[in-house]
Amino acid sequence: MARAKTMYRCQECGAQEPQWAGRCSACEAWGSLVEEIVARATSATAGPGSAAVPVPIAEVDAAAWVPSATHVGELDRVLQGGLVPGSVSVLGGEPGIGKSTLLLQALAGMAKAGQRCLYVTAEESAQQVKLRAERLGALPPHLWLVSDTALPNVLDHIEAVGPHVVAIDSIQTVFDPDMTSAPGSVAQVRECAHRLVRASKERAMSTVLVGHVTKEGSLAGPRVLEHLVDTVLSFEGERHHALRLLRAMKHRYGATDELGLFEMTDAGLESVPDPSALFLADRRPGTPGSVVAPVLDGHRPLLVEVQALVAPSSLPAPRRSAQGLDNGRLALIVAVLQQHVDLPFVKQDVHTVIAGGVTAVEPGADLALALALVSAHKGLPVPPDVVACGEVGLGGEIRQVHQTARRLAEAARLGFRRAIVPASAPLDLPHTEALRVRTLEEAVRLVCTDHLRERRAS
Ligand code: TYD
Ligand code: MG
Repeated sequence: MARAKTMYRCQECGAQEPQWAGRCSACEAWGSLVEEIVARATSATAGPGSAAVPVPIAEVDAAAWVPSATHVGELDRVLQGGLVPGSVSVLGGEPGIGKSTLLLQALAGMAKAGQRCLYVTAEESAQQVKLRAERLGALPPHLWLVSDTALPNVLDHIEAVGPHVVAIDSIQTVFDPDMTSAPGSVAQVRECAHRLVRASKERAMSTVLVGHVTKEGSLAGPRVLEHLVDTVLSFEGERHHALRLLRAMKHRYGATDELGLFEMTDAGLESVPDPSALFLADRRPGTPGSVVAPVLDGHRPLLVEVQALVAPSSLPAPRRSAQGLDNGRLALIVAVLQQHVDLPFVKQDVHTVIAGGVTAVEPGADLALALALVSAHKGLPVPPDVVACGEVGLGGEIRQVHQTARRLAEAARLGFRRAIVPASAPLDLPHTEALRVRTLEEAVRLVCTDHLRERRAS
């Protein structure tokens, strides 16, 4: 087969060069030249016969947008129903986080429901994927598997199988032999994705592309593809924890504020429909330095345990460590406690964590963090039926955070009966008794005097 003609286009100014160079000769930008195929670009433009016809917006047929469930509960929650026919999604995440596992489970779920699915593995052998599928109990007859890396072959396989759903694992290892750029380069990833997008739209087939992201999120992949595709999913988690979080960074068929939670087990990824119960399962009520906070991740309220340990330090600059919390906020809260509550941390090491491998970097966790520090410092436990929710201001004031009622409803569901909230929180807070405070000092007094404990005993 004759090679297609390629040229190099500057991503900054659009100038064309016949050969690659480190610097664009027109605008002098460095590293901006990316290979493109010349011949295919012209054939891609729609001919006069295929032009679309404008219709009144109310008459546009939206029925084709009905999503098909993947039957992986938390994935369907994030996608708001499932995969839409003709849509293209990117599933991004660090290597080893569980992208292939999630995709295999989703395809198996759809195949069991009667959809024809094709899994193209461009990284592992078909045997490796089959072994994994066996472990996951995912061997339905409608799930087709092929190990290939050349894009024309992949398109041929799609033609031959005629799938409703196709998964490409991963877009960085598929390549177009017409281009001289290496697989995984920006040019290759974009060209391959373009052609797969076109195939999906033509065949009304849902496509999921796996894209690896490095810690810096910089590898050619999800970033390069964001504007090309309909949905960008991000799969995250701590390598040493079983918990995995799935978020939609972009979704053309719904909102992006749903959070999906999974646990990586020996039998693959299991949906975690009740994460708060999971995060609090190992809590030891009555331990100083532990306060529960209802935080929001996107749309989803989560109850997390904020833990603090304060210990005498022999270091000239005592340690301040925050795991799952924002370092800057920890420093701020320590400073506010010193200035406004007169609690010294000058010769103390401070360690804080969110138990369970989740992160809570939103200001709603401030008050719980501050009270956990106070509780650890003074060796006084906070009663186990109390949650704390509010932002700490630099003046020592406690500020309201959004959706307090939703947060407290989740707390009440898990049996928390009292909540320390800002004085400005909405008046009609359901389900829990609101203990209103205006300043951090008031909150500390509430926790340190016997007030809370006496109320509980009565
Ligand atoms: P994988 O899906 O291959 O990750 P990715 O495609 O994102 O690179 O899975 C990565 C890890 O998950 C792997 O180290 C092993 C683990 N794992 C389990 O713990 N249980 C399982 O059932 C499976 C299939 C994988
Ligand atoms: Mg993989």
